[in-house]
Amino acid sequence: MAHPQSKRLLWRNTTVFDGLDQQPEPMAVLVEQGQIAGLWPESQFDPALAAGAEEAGHGGVMTPGLVDCHTHLVYAGDRAAEFEQRLEGVSYEAIARAGGGILSTVRATRAASEAQLISASLPRLDALLADGVTTVEIKSGYGLTLDDELKMLRVARRLATLRPVRVTTTLLGAHALPAEYADDADGYIDLVCAQIIPAASAQGLADAVDVFCEGIGFSTAQCERVFQAAISHGLAIKAHAEQLSNLGGSALAARYGALSVDHIEYLDESGVQALADAGTIAVLLPGAFHVLRETRLPPIDLLRRYGVPMAVASDANPGTSPLCMPTLMANLACTLFRLTPREALAGMTAHAARALGRPELGRIAIGATADLCLWDIQHPAELAYAVQAGRLRQRVFNGVISHA
Ligand code: NIG
Ligand code: FE
Repeated sequence: MAHPQSKRLLWRNTTVFDGLDQQPEPMAVLVEQGQIAGLWPESQFDPALAAGAEEAGHGGVMTPGLVDCHTHLVYAGDRAAEFEQRLEGVSYEAIARAGGGILSTVRATRAASEAQLISASLPRLDALLADGVTTVEIKSGYGLTLDDELKMLRVARRLATLRPVRVTTTLLGAHALPAEYADDADGYIDLVCAQIIPAASAQGLADAVDVFCEGIGFSTAQCERVFQAAISHGLAIKAHAEQLSNLGGSALAARYGALSVDHIEYLDESGVQALADAGTIAVLLPGAFHVLRETRLPPIDLLRRYGVPMAVASDANPGTSPLCMPTLMANLACTLFRLTPREALAGMTAHAARALGRPELGRIAIGATADLCLWDIQHPAELAYAVQAGRLRQRVFNGVISHA
């Protein structure tokens, strides 16, 4: 099929952050057929190299389109009252154990139709797009029945047809124990493994499977069963692990070849070693850390020492991170976790793409997918330094300018 815009587009004299590093001098960037077709230092650019191309932009800072590799964007209702309870000293865990938290969003999401979920989710998606996102991962996990999990995944897929954005979907059936299985966690895991994963896979609704490995979630033994079911249905693996305690979920996920483990505040050195051995990406979620007013920092220095790539994501969700602004996450990753701005930006581009198993995204390199942002700033670090809407001059999705 012909690419929707076969026009060649050329940007001149732009400062390029390529997904891993800033290019040492301003660049000329040529896009054709949805891919990056040319990349030259401006001083060496010869217009004959891009004959017939339309000049699409000039100056500014160009980054890959941002990749938000961990969100729970599709849900109904809100949890503002719970936010207030937590400010009064009630813990996230205590609220969850009393049937609130995730289960309160489950009640609202089960009651919502697909159309209602789409209209509730679109403003959140639009907020991400306005801040430079071109790829977003969306998890289920607020349905917790066969029908409601599939409903959430269908809504996530549908969002990709309503906006110029790539959506990857992750089945998070093992997110919380639904009330109807209150005394039978293993029975619920049976449902996830024997029915929900096979159906989501057969219907092409999930790209990956995730679990919440935690005292208020599921045990490592239960998560292991979910991983085995995911693998036998050809789905990638991710895990919420070591967020509130150290159960060893990250090392387990890594042994099963997980794309990423996410949160990881309580990850220890043997867990970091396991990620390094498996090539698993560490996804940092500073929004949840901030909102829960956590104090235990993820092991950033160990991750650096072992060469584990760090991604940064919004974790946009109604409980722990009702925050739909990826550049705020870059700021929080720097201020709270002491990432450098370069690390934070790599974490929202190249490394985030790898956390989704999509290495062709999140890069400005010849042959990479032409998902790009042109920002009205002087230096890439400003994206992490200042929290400010309105800096996105152009957003390019699949080689087509979709926002100017
Ligand atoms: O990533 N940790 C579990 N899941 C979400 C929170 C979901 C919720 O509270 O609704 C998280 O923090
Ligand atoms: Fe999450």
